[in-house]
Amino acid sequence: MIKITKNKDLGKLNTFGMKVKSACYLTYTEPDDLCKIDWESLPQPLFPMGSGSNLLFTKDFPGTILHSEYRKISILEEQSRGDVVYVEAGAGVEFDDFCQWAASKGYWGIENLSGIPGTVGASAVQNVGAYGVEAGDVISQVNCYELASGNFVCIDAKDCAFAYRDSFFKHHRGKYIVTSVVFRLSTLFSPQLDYGHLQEAVERNMEFVKAQSNPYLPCIEPFYGMPQMQLTPMLVRDTVRIIRDEKLPPVGKVGSAGSFFKNPVVSAETYNKVFSTVCAEKGADAKVPHYELEGGLVKIPAAFLIEYCGFKGASRGGAAVWEKQPLVLVNASGKATADDILGLEKEITNTIKQKFGIELSPEVDHI
Ligand code: EPU
Repeated sequence: MIKITKNKDLGKLNTFGMKVKSACYLTYTEPDDLCKIDWESLPQPLFPMGSGSNLLFTKDFPGTILHSEYRKISILEEQSRGDVVYVEAGAGVEFDDFCQWAASKGYWGIENLSGIPGTVGASAVQNVGAYGVEAGDVISQVNCYELASGNFVCIDAKDCAFAYRDSFFKHHRGKYIVTSVVFRLSTLFSPQLDYGHLQEAVERNMEFVKAQSNPYLPCIEPFYGMPQMQLTPMLVRDTVRIIRDEKLPPVGKVGSAGSFFKNPVVSAETYNKVFSTVCAEKGADAKVPHYELEGGLVKIPAAFLIEYCGFKGASRGGAAVWEKQPLVLVNASGKATADDILGLEKEITNTIKQKFGIELSPEVDHI
């Protein structure tokens, strides 16, 4: 079913809570609906949008927003073999609902991505990531409607150019509409707990669950020397959600779009300069958190740079830097304008550029 609304108020349809309108808003419930649309009659440009959780609308949108309400989840029995389970999820499924579904079946693969706002369709476009896992790691295929040809196409993961918060789709905006995504999940015990303190948090949660004698059943094999309890995708999911709830603004209560900036990837030389600056100011035993990547590159948490430059908790107009995770800008007053957010963004990027010579780039799409 297709529904078209003209002059649609997007205030409640973007998590930043920007009070903007779209000239046209089209929802569809089945991929086949897309074949029935007279695209040229719609205000342009066309923009597929999920839950509006990674966007900053800077003004009214002159074109048509396309929103999928296709929410089917199905196991692809023919493709699934041994411990590998292929699951197709409609673009309109809330990504966290899909994580819940997978965990409830005991499937491993996306439990670390629990709690991320947004839809399944957007997860492929954005290559969402958290706690050492990216959607692209477990996506096997992205099914799309190609606007130019009017055909449905299946794009194999290897052709999706998945990279840090990036994909082929981000560079071909308005050309493809993601209709569903096929994920490769696993029934094999395969937790991924290497990120930061995740393992420690899972162990703590396990102890808590044990003390509550919750229904996580007695264990088959010891894991990382942890107590004899079964470590399930659901337990990891619960732990990740607890960590996220502690750090990130509550969705639906405080307007934000998650991480506003990407973590910068710099040369070893730039990292050494940052390290020298910090040591000169804070003392020789100061630390700069970082992750070494291939090719001698270094990723520095933007949260560290923002906090170091004194922006943690800072507010300008209705916009603010989230106190518990400075990578996140929020619509603190509920009345922030896009200019408030953009002003704060500019101040942060300019300050970090001046101090460290590092150019932060936004993770959030500016529309
Ligand atoms: N840090 C600080 N001060 C703070 C918070 C963090 O200096 O107040 C430093 C610490 O050194 C910490 C490091 O930043 O170890 C990393 O922090 P965190 O683990 O919270 O992750 P992040 O790099 O800030 C990224 C993603 C998040 C994702 C987390 C967990 C990006 C842009 N963001 O944040 O994704 O949840 O890792 O994996 O890569 C999102 O994309 O919207 C998002 C929330």
